[in-house]
Amino acid sequence: MSFNGSIAEDVLKHADIVKVIGSYLTLVKQGKNYKAVCPFHDDTNPSLTISPEKQFFKCFVCGTGGNAITFVQKYEHISFPEAVKKVADICDYHPEGLEKYSKPVKVDERKQELLKCLYDLNLYYQFAINTPEGKEGLDYLESRKLDNSYRSKYKLGYAPKDGKATIEFLLKKGHSIKTIEDTGIARMVSVGNYRDMNEGRVTFPICDIDGNVIGFSARRLVNDDSAKYMNTPETYLFHKTNNLYNIHIAKDAAKIKGYIYVCEGFMDVYALSKIGIDAAVAIMGTALTSEHIQILRSLNVEIRLCLDGDLPGQSAMMKICRNLSRSGINYRVVDNQGSDRDPDEILNEDGKVALEEYLNKLVGPTDFALNYYLRSNPLKTNEEKKTLIKEFLPILAKINSQIELDNYLRKLEKITGFDVESIRDVVKKARMNVGSGESFNKAVFQNFHPEREALQKLVTAERELLYQMSQSKAAVDFYEQKIGGFYDDVYRAIANYMVEYAETHENMDLNGVMVLVEENNLSNKDEILDDLTSLVSETHPKNCSEQLLENLLDTINDEKSRITNEDILAESLEGKSEIEKARIIAEFRRREMAKKK
Ligand code: UTP
Ligand code: MN
Repeated sequence: MSFNGSIAEDVLKHADIVKVIGSYLTLVKQGKNYKAVCPFHDDTNPSLTISPEKQFFKCFVCGTGGNAITFVQKYEHISFPEAVKKVADICDYHPEGLEKYSKPVKVDERKQELLKCLYDLNLYYQFAINTPEGKEGLDYLESRKLDNSYRSKYKLGYAPKDGKATIEFLLKKGHSIKTIEDTGIARMVSVGNYRDMNEGRVTFPICDIDGNVIGFSARRLVNDDSAKYMNTPETYLFHKTNNLYNIHIAKDAAKIKGYIYVCEGFMDVYALSKIGIDAAVAIMGTALTSEHIQILRSLNVEIRLCLDGDLPGQSAMMKICRNLSRSGINYRVVDNQGSDRDPDEILNEDGKVALEEYLNKLVGPTDFALNYYLRSNPLKTNEEKKTLIKEFLPILAKINSQIELDNYLRKLEKITGFDVESIRDVVKKARMNVGSGESFNKAVFQNFHPEREALQKLVTAERELLYQMSQSKAAVDFYEQKIGGFYDDVYRAIANYMVEYAETHENMDLNGVMVLVEENNLSNKDEILDDLTSLVSETHPKNCSEQLLENLLDTINDEKSRITNEDILAESLEGKSEIEKARIIAEFRRREMAKKK
């Protein structure tokens, strides 16, 4: 660097490392310093420290460190002089000689050849859409309400059916067959015989951040069983994992608006453009990769996730949220509001205002996740439900407003079936227990068995009703009409005897019921008699009112709905021997079958 060290030093003197790193990462002030999630290793805590005083950064986990220029160099994988230029741009300090100093000396010739080839090809496609043969493609784009202004803004075109002629055109333009092959657009039909792989399709060029065409996606015009969109394969230029469709247009718009929408497909990008939002990119149906996140982060604006409202879109969004949260980037999510459509469909069906409103309904990741579970309800087992609560625990523990907390607890109750108070208990414990990790989980979740509680409540209510039945024929009638059998086996047997007894007697009498049990002499007789005798000695409300019965019915129904059968099965298998387990499972299946009858 000695030959031009002065310029780099000069820029560094005028640079502010906080501003520079802050344009890539989200910074949090901590005392004199700033902290950020380290981009140079798989960081979850903010381990990168930035010192404004010393003008350097250091990650105390992976050891990476340096000044503002080395940060940019490492982060962007660019040369030192290029990084000097970037730092100068960020800090708006442009000393004389900077341009010359930072100009990359070596041009990538291969890249230039490929770019030129794709540029010519795209002009050919754009021309072809206005020829008689291209009419079909033109009509298609018109049917998607992409008129001339959109076609030229996004450089849309049509690949003629004669794909051999397309290759010949490129050869005539002076591109070598090697170059054409390397762009990824040629398909070899036989040795030395190539065709355009996009032939007969409408073409959507994909550009790099500087607006150069680096690949294509081409849509079929007929509904046959070929791929809806044909994409350029991975090439020297084109990498699906680090390209965002429309980034070249969106990047400037995003800086003005302060946000950028991330959608699923091109049609969504166009839909947003139609309502005046150019700050939108599409991930083209793939995952949002860490490269994508880096590009988005460098814009330093709010990310607004807007994938399709359908279940695949929403569950993809859940995954993306986890990655975004981990990366510490600033983002919100468009709430699908119960609709399963994409922005393009919303615009076409409900109009501009509807789409605007849709896009403005933004929620934080917590609300999004809760809404997602509320709507899709994919949780089946108790373990899954507990895991969900564990995931939310750190967030819940930080909520100070009682109203807000209650709101979340009620949603969690709906999702998991665990009641508000038992979830509130774990939140309380989580607040008292500082720390995290395995021991924390153990401490907090030790006594968290809401399914056992529900079972307990259910059985208590059934027992109460059983007692009332032993005292009053009204209660027996109520049981017959409103309860489809008790959950507890023994209680169900006793109830059946009581019903039988009531049919032939004026008043209920426990001793009379016992006689009936003795007379029938079934195998579980002793168990039933045990329960009946203890029922006599228990204290229960004496007067059996209609209200009391209704309350018991409510409790029984509520608690039954809280516990799924699989939960109970899992619960009752805990700590049992293999033989016992087999017996319990067999009994469980028998009951399930009986219920279905
Ligand atoms: P969608 O199927 O949601 O796209 O795929 P869309 O915009 O609704 O498609 P239209 O309206 O039927 O034309 C979203 C994105 O996934 C990629 C494309 O990038 C598309 O924009 N995709 C989809 C493919 O790459 N190949 C396919 O066969 C389908
Ligand atoms: Mn779609």
